[in-house]
Amino acid sequence: MTVKPLHIVILAAGKGSRMQSERPKVLHEIGGQPLLAHVVETAKALSPEQIHVVIGHGREQIQNTFANDSSLNWVIQEQQLGTGHAVSQALPGIQGQANVLMLTADVPLLGPSTLQAMLDNMSASPLTLLTAMVSDASGLGRIQRNETNAVVGIVEHKDASAEQLSIKEINSGIICADAERLRGWLEQVGNQNAQGEYYLTDIVQLAAEDGYPIAATHPTKLSEVMGINSRSQLAMAEREHQNSLAQDLMDSGVTIIDPNRIDIRGQVSIEADTIIDVNVVLQGPTNIGRNCYIGPNTVISASTIGEGVTVHPNCVIDQSKISRGVNIGPFARLRPGTDLSENVRIGNFVETKNASIAAESKVNHLSYVGDASVGQNTNIGAGVITCNYDGANKHQTVIGNDVFVGSDSQLVAPVEIEDGATIGAGSTITNDVGPQQLAISRAKQRMINNWQRPTKKPRKK
Ligand code: UD1
Ligand code: MG
Repeated sequence: MTVKPLHIVILAAGKGSRMQSERPKVLHEIGGQPLLAHVVETAKALSPEQIHVVIGHGREQIQNTFANDSSLNWVIQEQQLGTGHAVSQALPGIQGQANVLMLTADVPLLGPSTLQAMLDNMSASPLTLLTAMVSDASGLGRIQRNETNAVVGIVEHKDASAEQLSIKEINSGIICADAERLRGWLEQVGNQNAQGEYYLTDIVQLAAEDGYPIAATHPTKLSEVMGINSRSQLAMAEREHQNSLAQDLMDSGVTIIDPNRIDIRGQVSIEADTIIDVNVVLQGPTNIGRNCYIGPNTVISASTIGEGVTVHPNCVIDQSKISRGVNIGPFARLRPGTDLSENVRIGNFVETKNASIAAESKVNHLSYVGDASVGQNTNIGAGVITCNYDGANKHQTVIGNDVFVGSDSQLVAPVEIEDGATIGAGSTITNDVGPQQLAISRAKQRMINNWQRPTKKPRKK
């Protein structure tokens, strides 16, 4: 048997009125990625000949969002006259023998294995549907079967009789058809229905009338066919998606304290024996190594975390590189360009930015280290500030190995503190400090004997 080339048509032209949004529905996000991106990713997993995306409403915004993906064939549907009309717009781009898999951009959780099962049925039938048994079918197309249980049509909710509304088998909106026959059926579809639209679903009855058997495949998981038409469905799908990501992580050896309280957005990998505490948000691309502990209420974005790292609660880590054994927080903020070597310690209320800190060094309390490089085994005391900005330009602070910077010191950049130097507490350092030197710049302490403290004036009556 020769397998026909596969073309995938993704329907994404509708407005999505029920979202009550300025943004096209398919650009609303699940797991930090637009709905359409999820469907495109699934489509790509099937290695099709071509992916066609039918767009109309908000099309410029959609094309801009996918500007980096040159593999997509954009098809414009000027007026949204229905799903059947939408597919017709894509057909001129599909020549010769082919199977056409029609996906809708508002069904984002579908997995490739379910679709592959549908495609496998195409050898026995020129039309296969993805259907599911649901308890609440409201708003969805119902699958009509005859007395021998063969599929004979789909009736849309708005066109259904009371009896048809009681049918629990629904159309997921996902249909696969032989290209040549699809062309013929779509030519016959009219718009005499409750919504005045050309329904793709009408081809099912036409195929049945032509005498073809129509296969109906069910998804592996019911959540795969969840359609997003409203914000509340978006929220439900988000949780489903998060639960399945959490499940995969747990299966691979990651401890997730509460799978209902984790959010993973984009490409995130976590190695085994790491513990993720509650309310952690991880944004990709992020990799977390083995044996880490990520404490509650922490947000990590676009960062690499090595093995055995501890992140105490309430930290924000963005575009940073953290090596093994580092200890961070609580309440630390690591901004872009932070690079921490092995066993570095960053304590509470510390902010870093464009800063590389070499192995075993400590910045434990209330400091700002920005545009700086810090050597090994250096200790930065409480409340130390690298004054990197002169109001116009940023300047660099260079601190060597084995340096001790006393508490509440300001290092006015550009400035260099060489290996083994000591900075006395409370100093404002404006000149370079040489190796092993002590630099101290603070007013001498004065003593005044028998000092009379001011007393409060008696209150006027
Ligand atoms: C559709 C199905 C319904 C199914 C449901 C599953 C039809 C007629 N109905 O209904 O049987 O149960 O999906 O979620 O197919 N679109 C276009 N151009 C248009 C109209 C729609 O591209 O002219 C796109 C939309 O952007 C959307 C998809 O097609 O991505 C489905 O359209 P929607 O209006 O959501 O259809 P449903 O009412 O959900
Ligand atoms: Mg829909």
